[in-house]
Parts: sequence; structure tokens; C-alpha cells
Amino acid sequence: MRVLVIGSGGREHALAWKIAQSKLADKVFCAPGNAGIAQNAECIDIPADDITRLLDFVKSEKIDFTIVGPEAPLDKGIVDEFNKYGLNIFGPVKEAARLEASKAFAKELMRESGVPTADFKIFDDAERAIAYLENQKYPLVIKADGLAAGKGVVIAENKEQAKETVHSIMKDKIFGHAGNRVIIEDCLIGEEASILVFTDSRQIIPLASSQDHKRVFDADKGPNTGGMGAYSPAPIVTKAVFAEVLEKIIQRIIQGLARRGVIYKGVLYAGVMLTQDGPKALEFNVRFGDPETQAILPRLKTDLLEVMLATANAKLSRYKNLDWDSRSCVCVVVASGGYPGDYQKGKVINGLDEAGKMKDIAVFHAGTKKEQDKIVTSGGRVLGVSGLGDNIKQAIEKTYQAVEKIDFEGMHYRKDIGYRAVR
Ligand code: AMP
Ligand code: GLY
Repeated sequence: MRVLVIGSGGREHALAWKIAQSKLADKVFCAPGNAGIAQNAECIDIPADDITRLLDFVKSEKIDFTIVGPEAPLDKGIVDEFNKYGLNIFGPVKEAARLEASKAFAKELMRESGVPTADFKIFDDAERAIAYLENQKYPLVIKADGLAAGKGVVIAENKEQAKETVHSIMKDKIFGHAGNRVIIEDCLIGEEASILVFTDSRQIIPLASSQDHKRVFDADKGPNTGGMGAYSPAPIVTKAVFAEVLEKIIQRIIQGLARRGVIYKGVLYAGVMLTQDGPKALEFNVRFGDPETQAILPRLKTDLLEVMLATANAKLSRYKNLDWDSRSCVCVVVASGGYPGDYQKGKVINGLDEAGKMKDIAVFHAGTKKEQDKIVTSGGRVLGVSGLGDNIKQAIEKTYQAVEKIDFEGMHYRKDIGYRAVR
């Protein structure tokens, strides 16, 4: 079978790496890919959201199955477009992708479907939102409605900060159209976890639990990023917690969509806060997490391509569960100088081979490209180094040994990935 993976991050590298190992895969392509993905797939120079060119490529190259990594093409309706031509593709249709593309849509559906989540109000008028802030308890959480590359959420510590935030989102439009509406919601307290499932709308097959580290610096200090590291499993997600998330959050939202006539097929990611009153949904993503995927997939023993095909073809009922390596996996993200602000590019990366050769280590590329015979940095998050260990402590040790073999000017990474699991 000929497979196309769409995207260019660490998540897509982990997907392409795993899919290339499938007995069903004869040839794997990736659009646009990166320097690391090129080791597992043939990279094609088409941007991830250029649906017309992707469609042409799939038709002319006789691709049997397309897998969408990032949210942008899903939100643009790539799955609907492929469906029109009877092409087999993994991911939800546009209407279902609104779960991630519009936080207001997601929150309203959560309320309607009985999904536990923070109390909220939605505003499409800046003056009204600002007036509402007058008599609230702080901290409060303010969210831009639309896609904002993971930066559209602010936890406002006081009224002044809240007003400034609403002003910059709704009036200065720092996130463009994404800020036409804001959600103002209660601040939840607890530990976060990521629960991902495959679903064809009837069947739900969970992936292993994981936890992400969003802040840039150790001890969860500094601004939010796309994610600086992850580990799987997350010990805080006990069997009972997992079951509760599946029943009250995942199942209810999928049924809520179905009641509106929307069939969700693909991977569904619930970001949850484990509060004293039980798990509450923070957000839904309609794709794999990045970097959670780089910590989850090295543990997966089931054929990934097979289960993704079953998802897309509504045949998930043939699975009861997926098969997992019982070891722990840790992924440490290595970032460019300046990230998550303006970052440097074009720095030569050394030590990749040496790290990649280590047993139970995989070096996933995110922002890299090849220049002559060298691999250089080209993005904010440059690499995700993943390592397996018999327990979380050993996985952490192993992974950092690999990270230390890598070096480029300005490189930085968190030194405490997995600390919650160790504690
Ligand atoms: P979201 O994109 O909605 O998941 O928000 C990004 C991050 O903001 C989450 O991972 C949380 O760390 C934080 N966050 C979002 N909503 C809340 C909330 N209601 N209470 C506390 N933290 C939140
Ligand atoms: N790691 C968070 C995300 O993928 O949205």
C-alpha cells in the first residue's frame, strides 16, 4: 500500500517512522516532511494545507491512504474534499474539526452533551466582555475562539490583566479572526493529562495516557509553548480516571456530535484537568498531540497503519484494545535559541547519528532541513528525542544521555521532563 503522511513536525516524523514499519506499507511519502522524515519516507515539496496540490499528488501517484497530521488542513476541509473523490483518508471532516477550530463550538457542545468542563461565557463584543470582567473572581481564563497555534489561552491573574487580554485579542486582533469571539471561563486547579483515542464514532479505542509539559522552562516556568516534552504512561491517570474520562468526556462528546449528525472518524485528543471534583475537559484536539505522539508511539505494538485504516473505514469494532510495550517512554524536545519567541535558524546540528544509534532511542525531527550534507535547524522546536526505559526514571536517564550527544548553537531544552511521574 502507498501511504502519504501530511505535515512536517515531530509528530509526523513519529507517524511516518511507525507507519514505515507496518507490514502493509510498501511506500511512504510525506508532504512536506523534514530532514529526519526523509530517512523514513520520500518527502514531497507540497505545503500541508495546499489541498488542491495534495489531491493532485494523491491521484497521480495512486496513493492508497492519506494521513493528516496537523489541524490546519482538517479545518480547511481536506477530508471532505478527498471523500468527494472516494479517496481513503485518515482524519475528521471539517464539521467535526470545529471541535478544535472553535473553542466556542466545543464549549457549547460540551455543555449540551453533559461533558464536565469549566463554567464559561462566550462574548463576541469586546465592550461586553470587558464589562463582565468587572465583578469576577480571579484568576480567570480567557481564550480566543479560533486556532492560535496553542497561544490563544491566557490565565489572567487580575482584572487589569484580563481587560488587557480581551483588548489585545478582540480589538488589536493579535490572533486575527481567531479573536472575533472570546471564551471567559473559570480557572481549574489540578494536574493535566492527555487522553487520545481512535474512533470511528461507534467504537472508541484508547491510546496510552500521556502528559505534556507546556511551559518553556523547568518547574513549569515561563511562557507556554507547543510542548517541551512528554511521557507515557501518565501514572496519575489510573484505571478509574481513564474510565471516567472515556465515559464522561470522550464518549459524550462523540455522541453529542453524532446527535448533530456529525460522524467523527480519526484520532480525538482530550486535554483534561484532573480536579478534586473529577476530570474536566479543557479542550479537544482533532489530531495527534505533539509531542505526546513521540512518547506514545514508541510503546505501540499493534500495527499503526492497520488500526488507522480500520478507523477511516469504520471497522474499529474488530479491535478490543491496542497492544502496548509496558515500558515507559519519555520525549524531550530540543528547541532553538529564542523559542517560543523569535528564534534562530540555520544552525548546524551535531551528534544526531550518535544519539540515534543508541538502543531504545529515537530522534524525531521537527524543525530541521538538509543543507548540502549537513542538517540544520529551521524551526522553533527542532527535535524530539524519545527513549524507552523499564520505568520512568530509567527512561528519563536514557533519554537525557541521548540528548546530551546532540548539540547546536543556542539549543535549549527542559531538564525536568517527567518530574511529576517520578514524584
Ligand atoms: P487549551 O488550548 O484550551 O487546552 O488551553 C491551553 C492550556 O491553558 C491548557 O493546557 C491549560 O494549561 C490552560 N488552561 C486552559 N483552560 C484552563 C482552565 N479553565 N483552567 C486552568 N487552566 C486552563
Ligand atoms: N501538546 C499539545 C498539543 O498537541 O496540542
